[in-house]
Amino acid sequence: MNNGIGVIDSGVGGLSVAKEIMRQLPQESILYFGDTARCPYGPRPAEEVRSFTFQMITYLLRYRMKALVIACNTATAVVLQEIAQLATIPVIGVIDPGARTAIKETKTGAIGVIGTSGTIQSKAYEKALKRIHPSAEVYSYACPEFVPLVESGIPDRSKALQIVKDSLKPFSSLSIDTLILGCTHYPMLADLIQEVMGAEIRLINSAEETARELSVVLDYRGLLEEKTTEQRVKHKFFASGEFQVLREIASTFIKEPLDLQQVDISKEKVCTTSWTNL
Ligand code: DGL
Repeated sequence: MNNGIGVIDSGVGGLSVAKEIMRQLPQESILYFGDTARCPYGPRPAEEVRSFTFQMITYLLRYRMKALVIACNTATAVVLQEIAQLATIPVIGVIDPGARTAIKETKTGAIGVIGTSGTIQSKAYEKALKRIHPSAEVYSYACPEFVPLVESGIPDRSKALQIVKDSLKPFSSLSIDTLILGCTHYPMLADLIQEVMGAEIRLINSAEETARELSVVLDYRGLLEEKTTEQRVKHKFFASGEFQVLREIASTFIKEPLDLQQVDISKEKVCTTSWTNL
């Protein structure tokens, strides 16, 4: 196996990013960690999100990683900067790529953001959007019911549609033209969100831009896998708890049998110094 790209999330959301990395960089191997035992992260205090994120990374340090993607907005908002400072490999989050895409796509400058309570309270999108475009109008709302819905595998579409309608009510009186899906779980509800918001609203999923940023960074640092054979590309998936939904979603874009393991990381040390791999 060539050195992998670590992709971490609280659960299945980061698969939307992993899928896009595989599409844009098919020669790269992915090491995916979904902390399904402790999902959702959104309502948790920042300190807990921080230590859980460190535990996922510490687990992945058993493998050789050449880059890390924090494919979770909540964790990106809390801990990206700290990790990027500790690491010697590139570390990429999902908030700046999403903000850049939204600014590129909006015509009116009125942008909606939906995310977990943690992400919305952090104002990370607002800051990122205003840094790029100071006069952007930003309207942010938390949708705490979306992550449990996605993690449950969306068993009932009409119930899910009702949850999406109720959660997006604040936008009915606002005139935005672009809506950032500020949680990596939300692209899995994109058709329902689009149905509720209307076809004219552009939905921004940061996965595409995050994968593009990863490819630019790897290329710049001379880390892209070159001329590889199919056999060297090997994806590994880890989940700290339930993994049925993770398996189902990953199987839609990985055609070979999944290399998926359940691992307990609750005792993993939170090591914030001397990261040999990073
Ligand atoms: N998918 C993650 C995010 O982007 C985490 C959601 C959660 O666990 O609450 O924020």
